[in-house]
Amino acid sequence: MMLLNGRTAVVTGGGRGIGRATAIVLAERGAAVAVWDLDATGAQETAETIKSAGHTAIAVGCDASDPEQITAAAERTRAELGSVGILVNNAGITNYAPFTDLTEESWDRMIQINLKGPFLVTKAFVPEMLAAGHGRIINISSSSAQTGAPALAHYAASKGGVIGLTKALATEFADKGITVNNVPPGFVDTPLLRQGFDPAAVAATMPMKRAGRPEEIAHAVAYLASDEAAYVTGQTLSVNGGRYFV
Ligand SMILES: NC(=O)c1ccc[n+]([C@@H]2O[C@H](COP(=O)([O-])OP(=O)(O)OC[C@H]3O[C@@H](n4cnc5c(N)ncnc54)[C@H](O)[C@@H]3O)[C@@H](O)[C@H]2O)c1
Repeated sequence: MMLLNGRTAVVTGGGRGIGRATAIVLAERGAAVAVWDLDATGAQETAETIKSAGHTAIAVGCDASDPEQITAAAERTRAELGSVGILVNNAGITNYAPFTDLTEESWDRMIQINLKGPFLVTKAFVPEMLAAGHGRIINISSSSAQTGAPALAHYAASKGGVIGLTKALATEFADKGITVNNVPPGFVDTPLLRQGFDPAAVAATMPMKRAGRPEEIAHAVAYLASDEAAYVTGQTLSVNGGRYFV
């Protein structure tokens, strides 16, 4: 197994869904995990699950798109778990609006949380990764940015931005020991998916005839977070059951 002993990881949006599964898998592999979420109760539940299995975690209530809250959460994370070497920018939202109904307010909120959030949280941790000469940044994007998707112009644009951010930072930090990759999930059964789709109906449209499981994203993230993935950067590791081939 690819172990992460001695590393500290931050998972934004770790209070449920893909983020929760990712926090649990990283902790099982030995990382000390800071579970950040807007929903402090969800974050606490994830951290308790990790600790009850004998691993290390803290819960941090935090809006991962708010600069002041990010600064405070980063300081608490460092104080309790040490310097951060693995960052998973997972927190994200979605909603559906035909383009003619899409408001500027909805567009701005989507970009703020899904794209500016990862920018801000990454800025908070890059200096210590540069100082350590080691870092793993994994951004959760979306297959919607690869395929396009109706009624999701704002969401697909935000996630396309995440893929561009990934590639830009990968080139900027390639010789600094920091890798930056993205994982675009395709139809994973989480509360977010259920906001817009019936999982059974989704399953019927998928090549594998099922939706993905959050753990299946988490294992891809854990690989990209590992020392074994040191020569992998700027990549898009699509975990989508064959829905779309890069
Ligand atoms: N489920 C899918 O099929 C799917 C597909 C493609 C991409 N994704 C992406 O995967 C990521 C996780 O999705 P999920 O399905 O687990 O969603 P989810 O809604 O089930 O969980 C998201 C978590 O993020 C938290 N969150 C939202 N905004 C936040 C903020 N500003 N600050 C801190 N925490 C915040 C929520 O409270 C929640 O706990 C998202 O970025 C999403 O866009 C999911």
